[in-house]
Amino acid sequence: MAIVIIRQDGKSEEWKSAILELAPDTEVYVHGDDFPKEEVSMALVWKHPENSLNQYPGLKLVSSMGAGVDFILEDPGLPGQVAISRVVDPLLAEDMSEFVLALVLGHIKNLNTYHGDHRRRWWQPIAYTRIKDTRVGILGLGQLGAKVAIDLKGAGFQVSGWSRSSKDIPGITTYAGQEELTDFLNDTTVLVCLLPLTPETEGILDEKFFEKVEEGTYLINVARGGHLVENDLLMAIENGKISGASLDVFQQEPLGVNHPFWEHDNILITPHVASVSDMDSVASLLLENYRRLTDGDALRFEVSRSRGY
Ligand code: NDP
Ligand code: OXD
Repeated sequence: MAIVIIRQDGKSEEWKSAILELAPDTEVYVHGDDFPKEEVSMALVWKHPENSLNQYPGLKLVSSMGAGVDFILEDPGLPGQVAISRVVDPLLAEDMSEFVLALVLGHIKNLNTYHGDHRRRWWQPIAYTRIKDTRVGILGLGQLGAKVAIDLKGAGFQVSGWSRSSKDIPGITTYAGQEELTDFLNDTTVLVCLLPLTPETEGILDEKFFEKVEEGTYLINVARGGHLVENDLLMAIENGKISGASLDVFQQEPLGVNHPFWEHDNILITPHVASVSDMDSVASLLLENYRRLTDGDALRFEVSRSRGY
């Protein structure tokens, strides 16, 4: 039994050290090194190259090193029978919550606009909105969305959320399914996307969707670039349905140097940093699932292939 780490961002050795620090006897390898491939039972992956997983004939579990698993399920070389798991870490949820709070506050207090005005040496006061008058709607009420919803409610915002199945979260108005999407959008002036990227949610933030939102809704996308039809957002901003957007994720990352978003006054860009897996905390969660796999115990945070999350 052994673990292989497969990533392309140069951080594999650092992750290996974090794992060995916690469990020095673990057999842990970095993809691309020379080692007995047949020993590997668990792969830890983050945006791994296509067709790397099928090099491990004894693979039983593929774990994302983050919350999302879209890049695993999209891999045509994903072996049919292996289990898939992901990271569910309270720290990841806390970090996401803080990031979204910062973006919502920045929006209602016009900080992004003032940043542009500052560069142009313009002195131009703009009316601000109060927290208690701001209706935030969250697409996705899972591990991250629910935490964000609860924390924003605690901070004094009016909060609603939309998910696939019905939810009961004290203080949060909840909506479920396509049939309640329009009601949800009518209840929202700041929209936060925290959905997983699946065949059902891909391109959900498109022209048809933007037609349903309240005039002047502000969009925050901290989920996946694949949720957003980027040209449709530009059109929706132009026609006033959307007043602006904070985008942390993009169809192509890093965002191309000539992308129109860079120059757009109403779009704030961050480089996929809303919430980043904490190495020590996540290494310990990954090791716990490796122990369970080795001992034949039930795995934690397994993903359903049919749902896609
Ligand atoms: P979860 O799987 O815990 O939650 C997903 C939520 O989305 C659930 O409430 C689910 O509904 C809902 N949902 C899924 N499909 C649909 C649908 N078709 N219609 C309506 N609702 C749907 O995910 P997490 O909260 O852990 O993470 C969400 C995403 O955030 C990740 O997949 C990842 O892409 C992104 N992310 C981004 C980061 C960043 O730094 N930008 C960092 C970490 C994550 P139900 O509850 O009914 O199943
Ligand atoms: C994740 C991410 O899915 O960082 O964890 O985007």
